[in-house]
Amino acid sequence: MAGIIQLQTEVPGPRSRALLARRARAVPRGVPAVTPISVVHAEGAVLTDADGNRLIDFAGGIGVVNTGHRHPAVLEAVRAQLDRFAHLGFPVTTYESYIELAERLNRVTPGAHEKRTLFVNSGAEAVENAVKVARYFTGRPAVVCFEHGFHGRTNLALALTSKVMPYKAGFGPFAPEVYRIPYPYCYRCTNDRTGERCCMGTTGQLERIFATTVDPGSVAAIIIELELGEGGFVPAPAEYVEALAAFAKAHGILVIADEIQTGFGRTGKLFACEHYGLVPDLITTAKSLAGGLPLAALTGRADVMEAPHPGGLGGTYGGNPLACVAGLAVLDAMEAESLPAKGRRSGHRIRARFQEWAERFTCIGDVRGLGAMVAMELVADRRTRTPDKAITARVLAAALGRGLVLLSAGTFGNVIRVLAPLTADDELIDEGLGALEAALVATVGGDGAPTPWSPIPGPAPSTN
Ligand SMILES: Cc1ncc(COP(=O)(O)O)c(C=O)c1O
Repeated sequence: MAGIIQLQTEVPGPRSRALLARRARAVPRGVPAVTPISVVHAEGAVLTDADGNRLIDFAGGIGVVNTGHRHPAVLEAVRAQLDRFAHLGFPVTTYESYIELAERLNRVTPGAHEKRTLFVNSGAEAVENAVKVARYFTGRPAVVCFEHGFHGRTNLALALTSKVMPYKAGFGPFAPEVYRIPYPYCYRCTNDRTGERCCMGTTGQLERIFATTVDPGSVAAIIIELELGEGGFVPAPAEYVEALAAFAKAHGILVIADEIQTGFGRTGKLFACEHYGLVPDLITTAKSLAGGLPLAALTGRADVMEAPHPGGLGGTYGGNPLACVAGLAVLDAMEAESLPAKGRRSGHRIRARFQEWAERFTCIGDVRGLGAMVAMELVADRRTRTPDKAITARVLAAALGRGLVLLSAGTFGNVIRVLAPLTADDELIDEGLGALEAALVATVGGDGAPTPWSPIPGPAPSTN
C-alpha cells in the first residue's frame, strides 16, 4: 500500500537545491537553513516540496501548527477577515476579535483570578513585555532565568536565553540585571544525583543558590519553561516547580511561565502549568496560538498587567486582525477536536517506540517529555553521557533523506525532538517513526555502533 511519504527525487531534489543556492545569495547566512528543502504546499502534517516529494512533517513549523497546516477553520476565519480588513492598528481603533481572543485567553490560562491579555507579534516580544510589566509592577530591576532556557532573539530575550552558540556569541552586550540559575535537568544533574527526588527541589536549596546569585528582594520575576523547548525538551520535576513557586511567593517575586513552545496542547494539556498545578502571575504564549499566523500574547494577573500607564504597552502590528480570528479558530479546534488529549495519545505512541529503540540503540541516552512534547537525547557513551551532536545531525539527515522532516534541540545539539501537529493520526505518526527508525539503523546500525556514512546536506546547528 502506498504510504504518505512519496519521493520522486533524492531529498533535497534539484529544485530545492537551486532555491537554496538562490537563498544564499539573497539572505544572510545568520538565518539558519535547518533543512535543505523548499516547500510549495503543506496540509495537516504533510509537506510537498518543490521537486514533488511528499514528506511527513514532525517539525510543525517549530511547534507553530499544533492544529496542522491549513486547518480548515483557520483558513475560513482568515479568508472572511480578509474581506473585512487586514489591519487597523489596535491602538487606533478597537475591533472585536482582539477583545474576544483576550477574553478567551484570560479564561483558559491557569487560574480563576481576573486577568488581562496583551497581543504582540513574536514570542520574544511577549517575553520582553512580561519583563517590562513585572519590573513596572514590582519596582524591582532584576530578572532570574535558567541555564538551557530559550526566550528569543531580541536583545533582552537574548540576555535571558542561555545557549551561547549560535544565539549569543558575538551579539553582546546584553541587557543588565539578568541572573541565570541552574535548570533541574535531571539527566545532566550537576550534583550527580540522577534518578532520585530532584536535589534542587527545596526552598532551602533555592535560598542557597540565590545566596551567590542575586538578592531575592531585588528580583521582579523568575521566567521558566516548565519543559525546556530549544534546551532539549526537559520537563522540570514537580517538586522543583513547587519549591520555586513557594520561594517566589515568599520573596514577592513574580513567576512568568514561558509557554511559547509548551502551549496549546503540546504537553497533553492546554498549558504545561496544568501538569504542575502552577498558577503563574504572567504567562507568555505564541507559536501555535494562531495556527501559523504571527501572534504572541502576554496574559497575567489584572493588577500586574494594569500597572503600566496608558501608552506604555502595545505596538503597530500587535494583535493583527487576521491573526486574532485565526487564534479564535485555533482555540475552537483545540476544544472541538480534543487536541491536547489526542496529542497525549500520540505522545504515548512515540515515547513507547523511543523506549523500545533505547533498548536496541546504545546511543539513546534518555527518552523524555510531557504529552506529545517527546524527545530522545543521543550520547557517545551512556556511562559518561557525553553528548553526540554529530550522530544526531546524521540521524536527522538520514531521516530527511527518507522523507521525514524533524528537528534537533538541546544546548549540546544532541536531542531529537518531535513537534508533529497534534492533528496527525496514528498511521502518519507510525510512518514517520518508521522513517526515523530506518534512519537510526542506517546511521548507527542495529547494535548502536556508528557505521560509515555518506554526507547528505545536513541540518544547521539549531532552530529555536
Ligand atoms: C520557549 C520559547 N520562548 C520564546 C521563544 C521566542 O519566540 P519567537 O521566535 O517567536 O520570538 C521561543 C521560540 O522558539 C520559545 O521556544
